[in-house]
Amino acid sequence: MQQLIRGRVLDFFADPSDTDRSHRYHENGAVLIEDGRILAVGDHADLTREGLQEIDHRPHLIMPGFIDPHIHFPQLQVIASWGSQLLDWLNTYTFPAEAEFADPAHATHMAGRFLDQLTAHGTTTAVAFCSSHRTSAEALFSAAHARDMAMVAGKVMMDRNAIPAVHDTPQSSYDDSKKLIASWHGTGRQRYAITPRFAITSSPEQLEMAGALVREHPGCHLQTHLSENRDEIDYTLSLYPKARDYLDIYDHYGLLGPRTLLGHSIHLEPREIARMAETGSRAVFCPTSNLFLGSGLFDGDGLRAAGITSGIASDVGGGTSWSMLQTLNEGYKILQMRGQKLHPLAAFHWATRGNALALGMEAEIGTLAPGSAADMVVLDVHATPAMALRAERAETLSEELFILQIMGDDRAIAQTYVAGRAQKNGSKHTSG
Ligand code: GUN
Ligand code: ZN
Repeated sequence: MQQLIRGRVLDFFADPSDTDRSHRYHENGAVLIEDGRILAVGDHADLTREGLQEIDHRPHLIMPGFIDPHIHFPQLQVIASWGSQLLDWLNTYTFPAEAEFADPAHATHMAGRFLDQLTAHGTTTAVAFCSSHRTSAEALFSAAHARDMAMVAGKVMMDRNAIPAVHDTPQSSYDDSKKLIASWHGTGRQRYAITPRFAITSSPEQLEMAGALVREHPGCHLQTHLSENRDEIDYTLSLYPKARDYLDIYDHYGLLGPRTLLGHSIHLEPREIARMAETGSRAVFCPTSNLFLGSGLFDGDGLRAAGITSGIASDVGGGTSWSMLQTLNEGYKILQMRGQKLHPLAAFHWATRGNALALGMEAEIGTLAPGSAADMVVLDVHATPAMALRAERAETLSEELFILQIMGDDRAIAQTYVAGRAQKNGSKHTSG
C-alpha cells in the first residue's frame, strides 16, 4: 500500500561543508512510500492524489532517520555511572553489566528495550557492540529483524584483562562470529560487524583470528576502539611493545580499511592519521562519552583535512544521551573548544547522510532519495516551552535546525518511521 507522509521535508545529497548546494528542502513537501521504500519526494501538490492515504505531520520537519554508528547494546543500564575514567569505568560498571547478557532471557528482554530507546530518540540504524556472548548478538539481530530495522552489530571479541564472565577465547570468538555471520549478515536488513573490543582485551592470537574473519568476510564491517584515553594508550603500548603506535596494532593484523570504524580516535599521532587516511579507515566521534569520561577533544577539522571520513555517535553507555540531537549539541561544544565550527546544516548532514557515508551505506539509508529505505524522523522544534519560545525568533531553516541541535532530545521526536512503519502512536491519518 502506498502512503504519503506530509510535512516540511529536508534531506542532503552532499556535505554542506563542501558546497552551498547540499540539501533538498520542500516547505510544503511530502514523501511517497510503499513497502518500506521511498518512491518519491517533492512538493505535496505534485504527489497527492485521490484515494491515497496521507499522514500529515505539518508543521514538523521530516528528515532521514538518524544513524548512530557507535553504541553498546549491553550498556543500556550502565549510562550515568559515576566517577571514573575509561579503564576504571569498564572494570567497575561495564564488564559486570555485560556479564548478565550471557543469559538469553535477559538479552532478549533488553534487546526490545534497546530498540525502543533508539526509535524513541529518532535513531533508525545503529552500529552496536554486543556483549562477548553469542546470545546477546542473536537477541539483538532477532529483535531488529522482526522490526525490519537496519542494524549493524557484532559479538565483542575479548579474551583477557576483564573478568572471566565476559572472556571468550580466540577460537570461541572466531567460531561464534562465524556462526553469527552465517545466520545474520545479509539476512533482511541485518549486517555483521567483526568486533574485537580493543587491543587491551584481545591477545595477539585473538587479533589474528579477527584478521582471518576480515579476510574471509570482506563485506562485513569491523568496529573497535582507538586512542580514547591516555592511560588506555600507555597500557595498550605496554601490551604490544613492538607496535609503532596504537593504530599499528590493528594494522599489523589486517584490520584497517574502508569498512573499519575506529571509535573515539582522539589522541592520534601524525603517522596514525596518515595511515588511517591511506587505508580509508573511519573515525567515530563520540562527544557525550568523551566529555563524560574525561577522555579528550576530537579533532574534527584535522581529521577531515587529512582526508578521513568521520561518523558521530552516542557511545551509550559511556555516552550520556541516546539522542543524536544531544550528541550534535555536545559535538558542537567540543569543536568550539578546539576553535572549530559545526554549522547546523553540517550537523544534520553528519547524523544522517554523513554517518551513512562513514558506513558505506549511503544508497540505503541517511537520505530520502527514491529507492532508499523509508527510515525517517519527524522533528518538532516547538517540543518544549523553552524551544517554542526560542523558535519565535527563528527566521531561517538553519536557525531552526540549530535550536533542535542544541535544545532538542527525545521530546522533539514527533514520529519515527522504520521501513515505512510508524513507531509511535498518535499521527493524524487522512485519506486524500
Ligand atoms: N573501550 C573499550 N571498551 C569500551 C567501551 O565499552 N566504551 C568506551 N567508551 N570505550 C571502550
Ligand atoms: Zn565504545
